[in-house]
Amino acid sequence: MAKHLLQLRDFTGDELYAYIRRANELKQEAAAGTRHTLLTGKTIAMIFEKASTRTRVSFEGAMYGLGGQVIFLSAKETQLARSEPLKDTARVMSRYVDGLVVRTYGQEVVAELARYATIPVINALTDLFHPCQILSDVMTVIEKKGSMDGLKVTWIGDGNNMANSWVQAAARMRFQLVLACPQGYTPQQEVLQAAQQEAEGLITVVHDPVEAVRNADVINTDVWASMGQESEQQEREKVFQGFQVDEQLLSHAKSDSIVLHCLPAHRGEEISAGVLEGNQCVAFDQAENKLHIHKAILEKHIG
Ligand code: CP
Ligand code: NVA
Repeated sequence: MAKHLLQLRDFTGDELYAYIRRANELKQEAAAGTRHTLLTGKTIAMIFEKASTRTRVSFEGAMYGLGGQVIFLSAKETQLARSEPLKDTARVMSRYVDGLVVRTYGQEVVAELARYATIPVINALTDLFHPCQILSDVMTVIEKKGSMDGLKVTWIGDGNNMANSWVQAAARMRFQLVLACPQGYTPQQEVLQAAQQEAEGLITVVHDPVEAVRNADVINTDVWASMGQESEQQEREKVFQGFQVDEQLLSHAKSDSIVLHCLPAHRGEEISAGVLEGNQCVAFDQAENKLHIHKAILEKHIG
């Protein structure tokens, strides 16, 4: 049966750490100039219904870097935009290519594609999750801090797709995660409850960013209005006042703390320009690591 990557909860902690170990090897090999042929003869299709810079280019670069081929499809230029059922699309694609990488709105879209596809379906962001991103983020934390052991990881801002995937990662990969979100903007209730049940106290949600970042090792944030929430932008700017990751907030964290942002960033909203450009911010290393993690994911699922 095809092995999909739809959400982190579908994997054990060991499996998740294995992607990171392999990505580190591939990163070193890339630096040494190794040419890979691990996916020669394989083709993936990427169906994107939302904008993307990093995820698109790093998945395409990863596939080419392993010797494979990519067909990129903007969803609006496919028959999906004219209401062809997902189950038909999934079965047709399964006859043409070796894997599907999908960015869309509903998690049920990737779930439906996976139900009917006989090839692996990889979630490249939905409204609910961004699983591949969190793997490159955890990889970046380990790169900077040595391991996840004993770290206090924080999430400041919206309980969005990124936050939901961090919550699942904390439960499976066993690290402390404190999220500070405004009331009504906490992670999705079912995702949070399931993760908290298995995480035995590792995951907490508060509403005060200062409380969250006190003595933190890792500070994470993301946009206040995600793709698809553009009409809520102004309302969210009001709700999220006080949740900006700025120099003042950062002063409550450990002096050697690192700041993560999956990008794109909105300077002056969820993060100050100074923090984003400052030497504690690792957002661009994080962005690079998407390339290496995507290679590890493609090797495992498509290879
Ligand atoms: N971090 C991330 O997913 O960026 P893109 O939207 O540019 O792919
Ligand atoms: N939460 C953001 C992440 C972008 C990579 C969004 O969904 O737009």
